[in-house]
Amino acid sequence: MPITLPATAVTPTKPAVVQTERGFEIAVFQHGDSYFAIANRCPHQGAPLVQGVCDGEVVICPFHHFKYDLRTGRCRFPRHLRIATFPVARAGTDLSIDTSAAPDPSAPSPG
Ligand code: FES
Repeated sequence: MPITLPATAVTPTKPAVVQTERGFEIAVFQHGDSYFAIANRCPHQGAPLVQGVCDGEVVICPFHHFKYDLRTGRCRFPRHLRIATFPVARAGTDLSIDTSAAPDPSAPSPG
């Protein structure tokens, strides 16, 4: 079941956090007309990525400044780290986040 939230809950300067039924958080970012949903937990040492700084389609972790691509979830360095990403669709005034194919972002990550 997708998670929905009002599109007004997210702005380019104010990301949002939603809780999933599976018990993990998703951070939702806006860049231009695009929305991105990622696991709100840095795989390095668990920082809440919603508190990071966005630079275009990259979020910079607030703890150690690793940079993650919001589209792919890939860390620029070290490249073996990756965050889960979730499809986001805008439907009228709402955003819908599909978590059905999501891996478990709370699973341990190397690094
Ligand atoms: S916790 Fe995110 S880079 Fe260290």
